[in-house]
Amino acid sequence: MRTQVVIVGGGPSGLLLGQLLHKKGIETVVLERKTKEYVLGRIRAGILETGFVNLMREAGVAERMDRECFIHRGTTISYENEMFDIDFQKLVGQSVIVYGQTEVTRDLYDAREATGGKIIYEVDNVQICGADSDAPYVTFTADGSSQRIDCDFVAGCDGFHGVSRKTIPDDVRKEYEKVYPFGWLGVLSETPPVHDELIYSNSSRGFALCSMRNENLSRYYIQCTVADHVEDWSDEAFWEELKRRVPESVADKLVTGPSIEKSIAPLRSFVSEPMRWGRLFLCGDAAHIVPPTGAKGLNTAASDVHYLFEGLVQYYEDKDSNGIDTYSQKALARIWKAERFSWATTNMLHRFPNQSDFDLKMQRAEIESLHYNEAAQAWFALNYVGLPY
Ligand code: APR
Ligand code: PHB
Repeated sequence: MRTQVVIVGGGPSGLLLGQLLHKKGIETVVLERKTKEYVLGRIRAGILETGFVNLMREAGVAERMDRECFIHRGTTISYENEMFDIDFQKLVGQSVIVYGQTEVTRDLYDAREATGGKIIYEVDNVQICGADSDAPYVTFTADGSSQRIDCDFVAGCDGFHGVSRKTIPDDVRKEYEKVYPFGWLGVLSETPPVHDELIYSNSSRGFALCSMRNENLSRYYIQCTVADHVEDWSDEAFWEELKRRVPESVADKLVTGPSIEKSIAPLRSFVSEPMRWGRLFLCGDAAHIVPPTGAKGLNTAASDVHYLFEGLVQYYEDKDSNGIDTYSQKALARIWKAERFSWATTNMLHRFPNQSDFDLKMQRAEIESLHYNEAAQAWFALNYVGLPY
């Protein structure tokens, strides 16, 4: 088999890249380790920056998103019983949209199937070969048989646990990591959201987040320890703890209900450099991870896809390799700024073990600066809505 670009990974990065390239007549094959149902079963954040929305429109897959999404002008920050809004639209002239990652992925799968784009599911033993040559190829097993695809380029969109990043030799790769001493316990419930926008809450008992998917599907998180297990938390215990971490006026309005999904996610910051090795390009979680506090995971994947898409089109249409040659540098420049914002908001809103009284004063001073200083709010807003590509 031969194609122009092999895309390893059928998550948002791989599918969005595949759809954009298809629109330009560039042929791809997507290799996905799991089934489509499994991929669509993942519950992930759904805060989309304008850049992401524009890419979905460019890919021709934005019709349902435009119809069903929620536009959020800003967000709310709370600390103990204090609450304040940050109005992105007023401060920086942009909003964000709320549209679940599951729905993004579903729309991308539907589009790929509609265009007859090739996706091979449940692949195993994927190996990227010859990436540092002019004739790369990918081998894998599927349906019990060994297969090979020769190609021009490989896009490693296979997430943090994929094979692409590890294909880059250890002596070429430099990794940066920070693992946080806590996780997020998340609950999905078929209840109306407690607020019309998100509430990020700093409390003496730990971080909490009130989010949503639609008018009758809410998503809530509380900071938990790394020793916590989902089975340690009954729904009742979760709701009681969430109420203790948000202002009383919010707790009083909270509509609780049975969890339809409950999971714990670890928090880490991670970047692997470079994002290109020969004809292999890393995109999204394959190259970087952010703590979810700044809602940047999907959005940094999108800017990677944008830069790689532009570079590949320039290569195929203009026989100009400048875009792919500068891909890693451009993608990393934006990623590190998103890493900083995600790290800073995580530090501002969470309780860390062994925080001193001075540390707590610094955290309080940062939140109060954000509460009362419009310039601080504008900088927060610029980062949250997404720095330019
Ligand atoms: N071969 C083929 N597919 C693989 C392999 C492999 N060896 N390893 C992993 N995959 C698949 C996974 O099953 C998954 O469907 O690659 C896909 C990677 O998708 P994501 O992990 O969602 O990463 P990405 O597409 O970059 O999207 C980033 O997803 O994890 C969230 O917070 C993150 O919102 C961000 C977004
Ligand atoms: C979510 O709705 O899952 C969500 C929203 C914002 C975040 C993280 C997660 O920062």
